[in-house]
Amino acid sequence: MTHLRRRPALLAAVPLAVTALLAAADPALAAGGVGAPGVGDPCFPLAGNGGYHVDHYDLTVRYDPVSRRLEGKAVLTARATQRLTRFDLDLHGLKVTGLTVDRAEARHRRHGQELVVTPRRALRKGERFRVTVAYSGVPGPVTDPDGSLDGWIPTDDGAFVASEPQGAMTWFPANNHPTDKSSYDITLTVPEGRTAVANGVLLGQRTAHGKTTFRWRQTEPMAAYLATATIGKFRVERFTTRDGVKVYNAVDPREAGAAAPVLKKLPSVLEWESRLFGRYPFRAAGAVVDRAPQAGYALETQTRPVYDRAPDLGTLVHESAHQWFGDSVSLTSWKDIWLNEGFATYTEWLYAEQHGGDSAQKTFDALYATPAGDELWAFPPGNPGGENIFGTPVYARGAMALHALRTAVGDRAFFRVLRAWAAEHRHGNGTTAQLERLAERLSGKELGGLFRTWLYARGKPNVSQKTR
Ligand code: ARG
Ligand code: ZN
Repeated sequence: MTHLRRRPALLAAVPLAVTALLAAADPALAAGGVGAPGVGDPCFPLAGNGGYHVDHYDLTVRYDPVSRRLEGKAVLTARATQRLTRFDLDLHGLKVTGLTVDRAEARHRRHGQELVVTPRRALRKGERFRVTVAYSGVPGPVTDPDGSLDGWIPTDDGAFVASEPQGAMTWFPANNHPTDKSSYDITLTVPEGRTAVANGVLLGQRTAHGKTTFRWRQTEPMAAYLATATIGKFRVERFTTRDGVKVYNAVDPREAGAAAPVLKKLPSVLEWESRLFGRYPFRAAGAVVDRAPQAGYALETQTRPVYDRAPDLGTLVHESAHQWFGDSVSLTSWKDIWLNEGFATYTEWLYAEQHGGDSAQKTFDALYATPAGDELWAFPPGNPGGENIFGTPVYARGAMALHALRTAVGDRAFFRVLRAWAAEHRHGNGTTAQLERLAERLSGKELGGLFRTWLYARGKPNVSQKTR
């Protein structure tokens, strides 16, 4: 199975917005009733916001693929985690045409990606409140520190919406960090003949006056970056799996021939992964196979990954594995991205191993044989920096870290760790430190050295008896 995925070349690091980092960490702000402009993520200081959690997003979006105009209404049901005289949402571009907090108009201003809201009266700690934002404009993607595009990416027949790590704010106002997970209702209206696909279950679809409205519901908690609203001319296929999971596949006809044999395997891949990792975390599944060279990558959008082209089987296995690792168990800080990509990549190795391909050991050995100057060893995967979150070491050396763990603790303990990780953090978040403690608990071994070597030590690790 491929270990080097196609992804944009690494660009030079952009300087951290240090002032924002300080603001996010400033307790004086919170004491004064001001919600911080970020949750304090070291890779993306302005991502998310302080002072509240969003329980539910109700998004209503109309999009015209010809004019590329979007009209949106977002209703956020939230809870204050501190007294709030002021709080931020994340929104990139677009124009805000109306904003209310609990039905009262609220003052608001834009400051970069921060939409700063001053409600008419202060919100009490613990209070539930509702923010309604009307907005419109021509959305476009953001450029990430690594030079790749994410968010709302227009295509020749609609839009490819893949928002990891930052792009959710390009199409709806969000608390844009994986530590805040929410349920979603997403209602999308597009010209008749186009299909608009979001996450979860399709509640209904209706055509009137030349427009079709699709109503999607994502009940299990979801990080904002995993929401999608991918639009195009698609062929649709729907069925329910033996486990009762509702599958909805949408495929660009130009990709249909290549996609069909791979998509046919989706139910068996999900069953195989359920056996390894525990029950599939969601009630819905599927795929959107688009033609989106502008993106150049696939994304594990929750319940229904989006593919920029017909995927190969390895990529399908990879994005499916993310439903457990990344989507259900989300990272707490973007520096722990290997918890997503290392796990999904290692799942590809396991799939090969159990389906007549190379053993994971063989894949590990082949990677380990690459010279110390190779890209694979350019930086350790445990804290790669925002510009490197999708770099080769995060995927490949991240997977090697898991293989080293497996070798150290044995298969029994290793697979128990994978299942316990998925179960104990199901629909929540996790950190590398928590994984390490879990692995130590289940194996009875001291694993600090192994985690340090594979995740945090610079250069090609010296493989000792411990990991072979
Ligand atoms: N998580 C995706 C994967 O499974 C990659 C997303 C890449 N995103 C980006 N902005 N470059 O491989
Ligand atoms: Zn991935």
